[in-house]
Order: sequence, then structure tokens, then C-alpha cells
Amino acid sequence: MVRFRAVNVVIAGFFIFQTIFLLLIYSRHTVLPDTETKTDKVHLLIVSSWRSGSSFIGQIFSQHPDVFYLMEPAWHVWMSMFQNSAKVLHMAVRDLIRSVFLCDMSVFDAYIPEKNNISELFQWPVSRALCSYPACSHFDREDITNETMCKIVCGHNPFSKIEESCNTYSHIVLKEVRFFDLKVLYPLLTDPSLNLKIIHLVRDPRAVAKSRERTVKALTRDNGIVLNTNGTKVDDVKYDVMREICRSHIQMYETAMDKAPSFLKGRYMLVRYEDVVRDPLREINQMYDFVNLKLTAKLKSWIYNITHGASPGSKKEAFLTTSRDAANVSQAWRKDLSFQKIQKIQTVCKGAMNLLGYQFIDNEKEQNDMSMDFVLPRRHYQFSWLPDKEKK
Ligand SMILES: *[C@@H]1O[C@H](CO)[C@@H](O)[C@H](O)[C@H]1NC(C)=O
Ligand SMILES: *[C@@H]1O[C@H](CO)[C@@H](O)[C@H](O)[C@H]1NC(C)=O
Ligand SMILES: *[C@@H]1O[C@H](CO)[C@@H](O)[C@H](O)[C@H]1NC(C)=O
Ligand SMILES: *[C@@H]1O[C@H](CO)[C@@H](O)[C@H](O)[C@H]1NC(C)=O
Ligand SMILES: *[C@@H]1O[C@H](CO)[C@@H](O)[C@H](O)[C@H]1NC(C)=O
Repeated sequence: MVRFRAVNVVIAGFFIFQTIFLLLIYSRHTVLPDTETKTDKVHLLIVSSWRSGSSFIGQIFSQHPDVFYLMEPAWHVWMSMFQNSAKVLHMAVRDLIRSVFLCDMSVFDAYIPEKNNISELFQWPVSRALCSYPACSHFDREDITNETMCKIVCGHNPFSKIEESCNTYSHIVLKEVRFFDLKVLYPLLTDPSLNLKIIHLVRDPRAVAKSRERTVKALTRDNGIVLNTNGTKVDDVKYDVMREICRSHIQMYETAMDKAPSFLKGRYMLVRYEDVVRDPLREINQMYDFVNLKLTAKLKSWIYNITHGASPGSKKEAFLTTSRDAANVSQAWRKDLSFQKIQKIQTVCKGAMNLLGYQFIDNEKEQNDMSMDFVLPRRHYQFSWLPDKEKK
């Protein structure tokens, strides 16, 4: 009798425990959707490839007073481990990105032996945040900063200022050309300490190829990593790297559009560089909306200036964003590339071009007829997967 009652108590206790447990699980599921984050910050990753206008788009974010921006922080990973393949380095790149998003700059310990000055970070003066308070006192936070000037006056400031500065911003924006697969980023999209959004920036492969020809030397080591040559530098004469880049654009776009998991909803946006240079304010407003930033009057004026500036050819450094007529420059490849090269690139990048709305040029007559446009209008494509278009 006593034993029977004891068993009853145990069973009842077990049922109560189980009920509470199930209630807890249930409430967690209903209260917390997949993409619930514990942060008010916005983390934006601009994923692109070399020579696709990503320095320009990076500046559009960097110059916003609410944005802490770094260009290619994972350059350090690739340079430290250049005998590996891009695929092998994906995980180290992803982990570095995650730490930087959380303003934990100790991650650079592994890649920069002596972290003394800000100037030890790759491409630091393109970051307005590193040229203004608290990283440097030369510029105000609302100023449009000048890379040349910043390099002279801010580089000697201590490396620790990078972390201090990062912590004062609501938006952390990073630009990387070193991701070739969207799935690598899934752990960051489900990480509750991050609020990650992704802008996937693409450009007409023919324009990319032409621009890459102008910076051949600067790209040979990266090419070797993309093609997994165990540290051997390569010129991309056969467009093998272009093939990989185009393949990665297809992979990322198709993953986001057709096979996307729920946590990607509202967090992926595809942007074509040509659309930005043709109608900068419309496109920039959409990108800003995507990450809850507002365009200021000063930024508007600056954007007008940099998209209507000097003519091409004035660029001295491979990765400098200078003022020039961006819409005009975006078509320059048609005059500079031979038709044979255009054909070769079209063959290598056929799938990506079809997918992204870049039309083939069939002969030299079409190539030289500047009244013909080979970029299909943006409205024919459903590029972004924004929250308001989301289906329940
Ligand atoms: C940046 O500052 C330098 C030195 O003052 C000047 O020569 C250069 O023209 C400036 N660049 C821009 C884009 O304003
Ligand atoms: C840091 O900057 C100062 C001043 O520009 C320079 O003298 C020093 O050599 C730099 N240190 C390192 C490690 O680059
Ligand atoms: C890669 O290069 C290093 C140094 O050049 C060499 O020691 C190593 O054997 C190479 N590895 C392969 C797999 O070829
Ligand atoms: C844009 O250019 C105009 C004319 O040169 C200049 O007055 C204005 O200050 C510039 N705007 C910005 C934000 O640099
Ligand atoms: C860019 O502008 C210049 C001068 O206005 C013009 O000669 C050239 O043909 C244009 N280039 C393209 C690709 O439209």
C-alpha cells in the first residue's frame, strides 16, 4: 500500500515535471522566432568580389555617422595562410568576421604580430570611424573624411582605439570578397548575439574582368588562393578565377532565392552595381532602409559629387574610391575589351549573366553601338528578399 502510494507520487511528480518542461519548450517556441536577437545593433556584411564596385558601396556606408566600417578585415587571414584554399579559409574568415562584428579586436592577435598602431589594420583609412572621435580627433563624426588626410594624421593612434571606436556605434558594416558560399554564414545568421544582414553586390562580369586587368599584380596572390595553388601566384589569363566568382554568385543567389531557410528571410538583399550608378539615390535609399539608416542632406550632396566627378583614368591606386562619373565608367569595358575577350567571359560566366540580367553581346557592331544597353532593367527582377515581401 505504502509502496503503491510512493510509486503514485513518483509518477505524478514525473507528469508534473514533464508538463512544466513541455510548457517551457512550447513558450520558448512561440515567444522566440528563429531570428530573435538579443542586440539592438545592426551587423551588415557586404559580400562581393574583387573589382565589383564594393569599395564605392563600402564608402556609402562608411561615411554615415552611425556606421563603424571596415573594408576586408579578413585580408589578414588570407595573407597569413595563403597556401590554403578559399574553402579551407572560409571558417577562419567567418570567425574573424563574427568577432569584429562584436567589436572584439583581439581576434587580430593571430594575424597581426605587433598590434601597436591603427595603421597596422588593412585599409584602415577608408573607415570614417577610424578617422574621427574616439579613434582620432582630426575629424568630427559627421564629417565626410578624406583618406589621404586621415592616413597622415590618424595612423599613429593606438590599435586599441579600433575596439573603443567600434563600441560607440549602432551599425557595424564589413565588406568582404572572401566568401564564396552563403551557407558558411548560416551560423552567424542564427547567432543571437548578432543581428546580421547581408548585401550581395554583383557587377557585370565583363566590367569586372576589364577592371581586374588594370590591377593584375594586386590580385595574383588572391587568385592563387581561389584556385588552390598552394601559395603560387597566378594571373587569371584563362578566366579561371572569373569562373569561380561567377559560380559563387549563382550559388549565393540561388540559395537565397530558392532554397533559403527561414532565418534568411528579410536578411538578404541582392544589389547590382549598375543599378546603383544609374540611380544612386534610389538604390542607396533602399540599402539604407534595409538596415534602418537615414540619408542625411550632407550625404546626399556628397553622393551626388562622387557620382558626377572627374573622368576615369584619374585613379592611381587600385583600391581608391575617387570622384568620377560612375555611370559612364560602368560602361567603359565595352571600349577597352576586345570582342574575343568579351566572348570568352560570356562563355565562362553564362549562368551568372543569365541569372543577374546581363545580356550577351553577339558581335562587334553591338559592342560599339552605345545606344544598345546590355543590362536588363532592374524591375524585371525580384532581387531583394525584404520583410514586406515576406509570405507567412
Ligand atoms: C584630401 O586631402 C588632400 C590633402 O589635403 C587633398 O590633396 C585631396 O584633394 C583631398 N581629397 C579629396 C577627395 O577631397
Ligand atoms: C606607430 O606610429 C608611430 C608614429 O607614426 C611610429 O613612430 C611607430 O613606428 C609606429 N609603430 C609601429 C609598430 O608601426
Ligand atoms: C606547398 O608548398 C610548400 C612550400 O612551398 C611545400 O613545402 C609543400 O610541400 C607544398 N604542398 C603541396 C601539397 O604541394
Ligand atoms: C559637393 O560639391 C559642392 C561643389 O563643389 C560643394 O560645395 C559641396 O560642399 C560638396 N558636398 C560635400 C558634402 O562634399
Ligand atoms: C564617357 O564620357 C566621355 C565624355 O563625356 C565619352 O567620350 C565616352 O564615350 C563616355 N564613355 C562611355 C562608355 O559612355
